[in-house]
Amino acid sequence: MKAIVVTNRAAGTAGMKLVDRPEPNAAINDVVVQVHASGFAPTELAWPSTWTDRLDRDRTPSIPGHELAGVVTALGYGTTGLSVGQRVFGLADWYRDGTLAEYVAIEARNLAPLPGDVDFTVGASLPISGLTAWQGLFQHGRLQAGQRVLAHGAAGAVGSMVTQLAREAGAYVIGTGRSADRQTVLDLGAKEFVDLDHDALEDVGEVDLVFDVIGGDIQKRSAALIRAGGTLVTIVGPAEARPSGGLAVDFVVEADRVQLIEIVQRVRDGRLRTHIGKVSSLDDAVAALNPTERRKGSTIICAHR
Ligand SMILES: NC(=O)c1ccc[n+]([C@@H]2O[C@H](COP(=O)([O-])OP(=O)(O)OC[C@H]3O[C@@H](n4cnc5c(N)ncnc54)[C@H](OP(=O)(O)O)[C@@H]3O)[C@@H](O)[C@H]2O)c1
Repeated sequence: MKAIVVTNRAAGTAGMKLVDRPEPNAAINDVVVQVHASGFAPTELAWPSTWTDRLDRDRTPSIPGHELAGVVTALGYGTTGLSVGQRVFGLADWYRDGTLAEYVAIEARNLAPLPGDVDFTVGASLPISGLTAWQGLFQHGRLQAGQRVLAHGAAGAVGSMVTQLAREAGAYVIGTGRSADRQTVLDLGAKEFVDLDHDALEDVGEVDLVFDVIGGDIQKRSAALIRAGGTLVTIVGPAEARPSGGLAVDFVVEADRVQLIEIVQRVRDGRLRTHIGKVSSLDDAVAALNPTERRKGSTIICAHR
C-alpha cells in the first residue's frame, strides 16, 4: 500500500516520503480500515510517540497521522461492535503506525460509526479537535450553563470547537486570537473577542474556565482571571500557572466512541461546523503538508475517494 513515512526527527514535515509499505494486519480487538480521509497535526512530529514505541524503542520509519475516516475491511480476533463494510471515523493510537496511508490497523474502540450523510473529509477533521474540546470543557473543565469561558485561539482547530460547544452548552464565551479572526470567532458564537496583540486580556474580568491552547505568558495572565472554584484547562503541556482557589488541568486527548457520536451528530444537525482548508490526494500529500504559505483550516489527505 502507499503510505507517508518519516524517519528523521530533525527534518520535520520536509522529511516526509511517499513509499510502498505492507498492508497492516488486524490484531486482537483491531479492525483494518481502508482510509478515505486523514487529518494531520503538524505538531505530531514533535511528539515522542511518533518516533518510539511505548518502551521508548525506535519505531521509524513511522507513518504519521491520527485522525481518519474510512471503511472497515477486516476484523481482528475477538473484535465486536463494528462490521466489515461499515463507515467509521476516529482517533488512532499515538504509538502505532497512523493514518497517512491507504490502510490502518486500529483498535475498534477508537472508532465510531460515520453516518452516511457525513463526508469522509468532514469525519477526518473532527476527532482531535472535537474530542479535545469536548474533554477539556465537559470532563476536565466541568462546564455548567451560565459560566464564563475564556477560549484562546478561538479561530483555530481546537478553539473553534471549544467556542461552539461551550456556547451550545449555555456558557458565555469570550474568544481570543489575532485581529483578523474577530468576525470568525463572533460568528462561531463568542459574545466577545479579545485581540491578543492589541487588547488588554485583563479587561475580560473574572471567568470560570480558561481553555488554553497557547501557553506561556498568555496562560499565566489568564490563570489570574479565574474565580475561586474555577479551572484552567491547558492542552499545550504541563500547566505553568495555577489559579488561586482553582484547579489547573493539562491533558492529552483520548479516543471515545460515545463522544465521537455526540460530536458528529452536532455536525449533521448544523450545531457544529468544522473548517477544512485544503483537501489533497495521498500522492500530493508531502507537498500539501509542506505549505509555502500560512493556511487556515485543516489539511485533509484522501487516500481513497
Ligand atoms: N493535548 C492535546 O490533546 C492536544 C490536542 C489538540 C491540539 N493540541 C495542541 O494545541 C495547540 C493548538 O492546536 P490547534 O490545532 O487548535 O492549532 P491551530 O489550529 O493553529 O489554532 C491555534 C490558534 O491560536 C492562535 N494563536 C496562537 N498563538 C497566538 C498568540 N500568541 N496570539 C494570538 N493568537 C494566537 C492561532 O493563530 P495563528 O495561526 O495566527 O498563530 C490559531 O488561530 C497545538 O500546540 C496542538 O499541538 C493538543
